[in-house]
Amino acid sequence: MPLPKRLLNGIQRSSMRVPLLDLKLQYSPLKAKILSAIEQVADSQHLVLGPQVDKLEADIVTYTGASHAIGVSSGTDAQLVLLMALGIGPGDVVVTTPYTFFATAGCVERLGARIVFADIDPATYNLSPSALAEVLSKTERVKAIIPVHLYGCCADMEAICALAVQHGIPVLEDAAQALGASHPMGAAGAIAEAGWYSFYPTKNLGAFGDAGMVTCRDAGLATKIRSLRNHGMEPRYYHHSVGGNFRLDAIQAAVLNIKLPHLDSWGAGRRERAAFYRSAFAKAGLDKVLTLPVEPWSETGVGTHHIYNQFVVRAPRRDALRAFLSEAGIGSEIYYPLPLHLQECFKHLGYGLGAFPESERAAQESLALPIFPELLAEQQAYVVEKIAAFYA
Ligand SMILES: Cc1ncc(COP(=O)(O)O)c(C=O)c1O
Repeated sequence: MPLPKRLLNGIQRSSMRVPLLDLKLQYSPLKAKILSAIEQVADSQHLVLGPQVDKLEADIVTYTGASHAIGVSSGTDAQLVLLMALGIGPGDVVVTTPYTFFATAGCVERLGARIVFADIDPATYNLSPSALAEVLSKTERVKAIIPVHLYGCCADMEAICALAVQHGIPVLEDAAQALGASHPMGAAGAIAEAGWYSFYPTKNLGAFGDAGMVTCRDAGLATKIRSLRNHGMEPRYYHHSVGGNFRLDAIQAAVLNIKLPHLDSWGAGRRERAAFYRSAFAKAGLDKVLTLPVEPWSETGVGTHHIYNQFVVRAPRRDALRAFLSEAGIGSEIYYPLPLHLQECFKHLGYGLGAFPESERAAQESLALPIFPELLAEQQAYVVEKIAAFYA
C-alpha cells in the first residue's frame, strides 16, 4: 500500500523530534510574499495604522460576520481598550473563568474593577453556565461576563447569553485563541456584544510580533474604541478622553493580510490532525487512559467547529508523562499550571485552594500535545507510540 503523502518525508525514527509548534514550516512557503508585503510597507513608510490595517479590519469583518473590527497592538490591549470604552472601572464587577491566560483577568484588575470567578465545565474547560448562574444570582454590579473560547473551542454561548439577557449584562468574548472557530450562534468573537482576537505568533493567525483586534456590534462603541486606541485624540492633539497607544503597526497588518486567506485551510489541517490523534489513541486503547478534547458544537451538524489552537488531553501522572515525552524529543505544554484565583497577584480577591475545583483539577491534569497544520502523520504516530509506551 502506498504511504500517505504526509509520511513521505524521510525522517528517521531514531532522530525523530516533534516540537509543540514549528512556525518556520508555515513561514517558509509564504516567505517571498510576506517579505514583499513588508517591503511595500517599508517603501510606503506608512508604518502605523493606514491602508494595511484598514484592509485587515475589513477582512476580519467579512470573515467573522462581526459588525465592526478595530485593529490594536495585542489581544491584551484589545480587551483593555474595550473595557475602557465600556467605562468599566472601580465599583464594577466582571465575571470570568479562572482557567484562562492571565490577560483575561489582568485587564479587569488594571482598570480597578473587581474580578469574580465562576468555575469551568470540566469537559470543555470553558465557563460553566451553571457556575455562572450561581455567581450572577448572588453578585451585584456585574458589568460584563467574559467567556473564553479556550484552545479554540467555543464556550456554551447559548446558555451564557441567555443568562446575560436575563440579568441585562453584556457578554464580551475572549476569542484570543479562537479566530476561525464557530458555534451554532456564529463565529467565535462575533456572537455577543463584543469580543477580541490575539494575533500573537502562536495563535492560528499569527503576526510577526504582537497584534490584536477588537470586534463589536455597536457603531458608537466602535467609534469610541477607535478614538481610545489613539489616546482619545481627534483632531490631532485634541483629546476627548484618556485612552492609550493601542495602535496596530502596518507591518503586522501586512503579514496578517498575507496569512488570512490561508486560515481556513490551516484550520482544516489542525482538525485533520486532531482526528488522527483521536483514531490513533482509540486504536492504542489510550482513549480510555487519556481524556480527549470534546467538540460539543460539531455534534450539532451545522458545520461548526473547534479550531484546535491547542489539542489538550487530561493525562494521569501528567508531569511524569511530560518529562517522558520531553526525553523522547516531543514538545508539550501545560496551559495553565496555576488557575488565576490562586495567583499571587490575586490573593486579595480572597479565594483559596478548593474555591474552583474543576479549574484546579484541569491545572493538575491537562497537557497540550503538538498540533499544527504541517505536523506529519509519522510524527503524530510517534507521539501516540511514546504515550502508549509510558502507560504500558
Ligand atoms: C485566552 C487569552 N486571552 C488573552 C490573550 C492575550 O493576547 P495577547 O498575547 O495578544 O496580548 C491570550 C494570549 O495568549 C489568550 O490566550
